Amino acid sequence: MEIWKWVLFGILFLSAFVVKIEAFKLGRSQPTERISGSAGDVLEDDPVGRLKVFVYELPSKYNKKILQKDQRCLNHMFAAEIYMHRFLLSSPVRTLNPEEADWFYTPVYTTCDLTPNGLPLPFKSPRMMRSAIQLISSNWPYWNRTEGADHFFLVPHDFGACFHYQEEKAIERGILPLLQRATLVQTFGQRNHVCLKEGSITIPPYAPPQKMQTHLIPEKTPRSIFVYFRGLFYDVGNDPEGGYYARGARAAVWENFKDNPLFDISTEHPTTYYEDMQRAVFCLCPLGWAPWSPRLVEAVIFGCIPVIIADDIVLPFADAIPWEEIGVFVDEKDVPNLDTILTSIPPEVILRKQRLLANPSMKQAMLFPQPAQPGDAFHQVLNGLARKLPHDKSVYLKPGERVLNWTAGPVGDLKPW
Ligand SMILES: *[C@@H]1O[C@H](CO)[C@@H](O)[C@H](O)[C@H]1NC(C)=O
Ligand SMILES: *[C@@H]1O[C@H](CO)[C@@H](O)[C@H](O)[C@H]1NC(C)=O
Repeated sequence: MEIWKWVLFGILFLSAFVVKIEAFKLGRSQPTERISGSAGDVLEDDPVGRLKVFVYELPSKYNKKILQKDQRCLNHMFAAEIYMHRFLLSSPVRTLNPEEADWFYTPVYTTCDLTPNGLPLPFKSPRMMRSAIQLISSNWPYWNRTEGADHFFLVPHDFGACFHYQEEKAIERGILPLLQRATLVQTFGQRNHVCLKEGSITIPPYAPPQKMQTHLIPEKTPRSIFVYFRGLFYDVGNDPEGGYYARGARAAVWENFKDNPLFDISTEHPTTYYEDMQRAVFCLCPLGWAPWSPRLVEAVIFGCIPVIIADDIVLPFADAIPWEEIGVFVDEKDVPNLDTILTSIPPEVILRKQRLLANPSMKQAMLFPQPAQPGDAFHQVLNGLARKLPHDKSVYLKPGERVLNWTAGPVGDLKPW
């Protein structure tokens, strides 16, 4: 019995090695490949001229003042809410005339309340959001016209507009009732989940673009690592058994492959982290518990094929980025077979994925650069909003018609902010 295990391992190891050699011999210096069909074209769309956005002017206590209190908000992975505001203020799609606007945007920084460790606390967010909506609905006539159906909001919290970081609590809360008709722009994306409503736009988490740019290594460097991952496998503090954290997927990766030479995995975060990703063929993205993990953004930026282990995930800009073609999707239950799954991918398939990943428009769509650049994540959000136009006539309410219930939801949320 034992000997068969070793023979099997030998075969797996050898075949993997051949793939590895092929991939790194050809991988890095390959030309890029455009996505044929609509996807590539959509990514390069210019939203200017296709929509007009009115930015509500709110008292600074909803945005600037909050940021002044904690500058760390500019760097955490939910910082898109701040950068999107800045982007829109100087964007050519902005209109100062609300009468001609297709979309209304309310700049409210609901994730910028951080613990000393830098984790966002969403407890005040519902009251703050409610207060902002109360303000716009009483000072301008546009909210009441549709009760938010032509308004969009950035809600990059863990579970979007459910405003809680624990999934159970988030599900219990559900999406803030006042946002039920609005379009939500959020990092959270999971099918059939109460915290993702239809028509939402899923965006990548914010990852500092300059920081990644400074770690680029020469294009021709061989990809000598087969599978790479750095990050937590267990949430020791909250979930030592590993069943809940990442729905057990990270724990399974560790248990099955910690001693496998094809897998370069560890909890240590080396200073060569970004360089290592550029030397790897596959980068694991076990996103289950944390759909917004920057791992995915980093893999795309560094041309490392993302191995997405997250059943039912909705990935960023999934209607524009052909994730199935770029990445590898592995069911959570199949994690114990990861080695076989990855080593049996034919080299030509790997090479094609690498060529697609080398496409600059793919990387651009993952980033929120300052200043903004054509095709970046800001532009993808606008493209997503433009594709929803024109609004259906049915979103405009009859005079006096009301759909939203202003007193629905947890009583605690009704307290003034
Ligand atoms: C919008 O409707 C609410 C009642 O639902 C009302 O209190 C408010 O004054 C209205 N806003 C405007 C600008 O008329
Ligand atoms: C609004 O929600 C509150 C609290 O859940 C509920 O008591 C009330 O009946 C609802 N009103 C309407 C008109 O549905």
